[in-house]
Amino acid sequence: MKVTVVGAGAVGASCAEYIAIKNFASEVVLLDIKEGYAEGKAMDLMQTASLNGFDTTITGTTGDYSKTADSDIAVITSGIPRKPGMTREELIGINAGIVKTVASNLIEHSPNVILIVVSNPMDTMTYLVHKTTNLPKNKIIGMGGALDSARFKYRLAEALDAPISDIDGMVIGGHSDTGMVPLASQAARNSVKVSEFLTEDRLKQVVEDTKVGGATLTKLLGTSAWYAPGAAVSALVQAIACDQKKMFPCSALLDGEYGLSDICIGVPVLLGKNGIESIVEISLSDTEKTKMQESSVGVRNTNGLLDV
Ligand code: 2OP
Repeated sequence: MKVTVVGAGAVGASCAEYIAIKNFASEVVLLDIKEGYAEGKAMDLMQTASLNGFDTTITGTTGDYSKTADSDIAVITSGIPRKPGMTREELIGINAGIVKTVASNLIEHSPNVILIVVSNPMDTMTYLVHKTTNLPKNKIIGMGGALDSARFKYRLAEALDAPISDIDGMVIGGHSDTGMVPLASQAARNSVKVSEFLTEDRLKQVVEDTKVGGATLTKLLGTSAWYAPGAAVSALVQAIACDQKKMFPCSALLDGEYGLSDICIGVPVLLGKNGIESIVEISLSDTEKTKMQESSVGVRNTNGLLDV
């Protein structure tokens, strides 16, 4: 199993690290345009191998896509990250050009690759990859919901003063501060709805804190987060590499599901060896349906800024 991670910045390097630590891939290639950077990160990570007990080989390259040839899965993290006060949507001008070129270079060397898009604004970048490549739709996956759901579970565990392993919850919709739809009515501690334990106001606060999860970290760190994004990507890569058929909310191209078409937005999907094995349609409350609809309007507005 060969995995390429484009962009050796904090998210890309964390992603490579978590993939290696989980020890399911034979090879991870890190690619960056900054001279020597990916090589340096790869060497540093390889020097953790004996300490962390993994056999995955991590190599780095400065822009040489021939080194990525025959990758099974490739992750696109390239582009500029958010600075404090910026929305993900504001990155579109620079990131669209980068993501388009990276996707085309990857496919040229790995025609059967499954692509995971992380660059922001993620739903629009995923849509851009669908519009500008000829990969089948099951092979283009946007990573947002897995991360937002992890942040939702963190906030729920905090509010409930419970261990995270007790918590189940999912965030669908667009990967943006206004577009996320945390499914609060369905979130549970073991199988008991969290609404049994939390007041309506506390639950609303959890939802709001979840939606600005990325922005809160950007403010604290001065740039966007990397540990949880890296871990979320590695979970998707593992689900595909190990054909787990695990359910994650991911940005997928919709064709009528959830009443939406010609848009990439976060919905529950099953991930396995073919990438998106299926889109799972769950029943939503009327409020959640409205929020999903509103979220899709936001994503379409951002898609409208693309030159495709
Ligand atoms: C986030 O931290 C990277 O968009 C990403 O939310």
